[in-house]
Amino acid sequence: MKTKLLRILRETKEYVSGQQLCECFGVSRTAVWKMIGQLKEEGYEIEAVKNRGYRIVNTPDVMSSQEILSRLHSEWMGHKCIHLTSIDSTNNYARKIAEEGALAGTLVVADEQTAGKGRRGRSWETPDHVNIMMTLLLRPRIHPGPAPRMTLLMAMAAAQSIRAETGLEAFIKWPNDVVLNGKKVCGILTEMSAEVDYINYVVVGIGINVNQESFPGELARTAGSLYLALGKKISRAALAVRIVERFEKLYETFVKTEDLRELYEEYNGMCINCGRQVQVREPGNVYTGTTDGINEKGELIVRREDGETVCIYAGEVSVRGLYGYV
Ligand code: BTN
Repeated sequence: MKTKLLRILRETKEYVSGQQLCECFGVSRTAVWKMIGQLKEEGYEIEAVKNRGYRIVNTPDVMSSQEILSRLHSEWMGHKCIHLTSIDSTNNYARKIAEEGALAGTLVVADEQTAGKGRRGRSWETPDHVNIMMTLLLRPRIHPGPAPRMTLLMAMAAAQSIRAETGLEAFIKWPNDVVLNGKKVCGILTEMSAEVDYINYVVVGIGINVNQESFPGELARTAGSLYLALGKKISRAALAVRIVERFEKLYETFVKTEDLRELYEEYNGMCINCGRQVQVREPGNVYTGTTDGINEKGELIVRREDGETVCIYAGEVSVRGLYGYV
């Protein structure tokens, strides 16, 4: 009920009368007043004006499921939203509930991760309550091979949503980091449970540095936040919802063909590596080249200095700019 109340308050430009709310929920004025009181206790600023009604004035920066669901306009993704105050990792949690049969599209969000995971076995450490930590559980009916491309879709969804929400020019650093002013603001970790020809589930986890004010030591050289780039704080829930809505669209396009034929040009338009020199680091081999972006398989096409063109797959290599992270 509180989710619906929030949605009505948020989507009505003018005041919503107590009477309208009573009719909408089929409850007494006292019950409406109590619900409004509960929202106020949770940090929502709601103005109540005699003979006019209620109006939402300020929303706290919370990632509660009611805050997320009251903003969400997707077809199916995120309709089940689980908010955890503290968890080891939202990816681990999503995998656990996937094993127990949770629905495709379930979204897991957390205020705090005690053992957040990054790519290649690294850890992902992020302060509590200021950044986005969330994971989507999916059960695509596609071959397991192309599933890692979903990571690139999430990078696109994140970069586009950051642009829409902040007006800042977010770019993707291949394959799936999102960068602002040359600093990493977002990381994505996709994990899968599959048989040779069948996917049980895929979890796509994303961490975004949203309202973080500073970074310790060495990290400050390569990591940034939306706050540091924009100079003001934004609603994490608004950004998270935008990402889910955008990802849903990209995912629907992707599962039709299992490749990126309809999406790779859009990806390349946001890829910071395009037209630049890159240094490719493979196990036991480092070389430089130039890239114009990815192909429909999501591989980075690199023209090596010796003239040979190679298509590199995200799994084993890392790509950096010649003079630093990008
Ligand atoms: C990277 O190394 O760049 C990937 C970082 C992914 C972090 C996110 S935070 C939410 C989800 N849960 C995790 O444990 N990791 C991902």
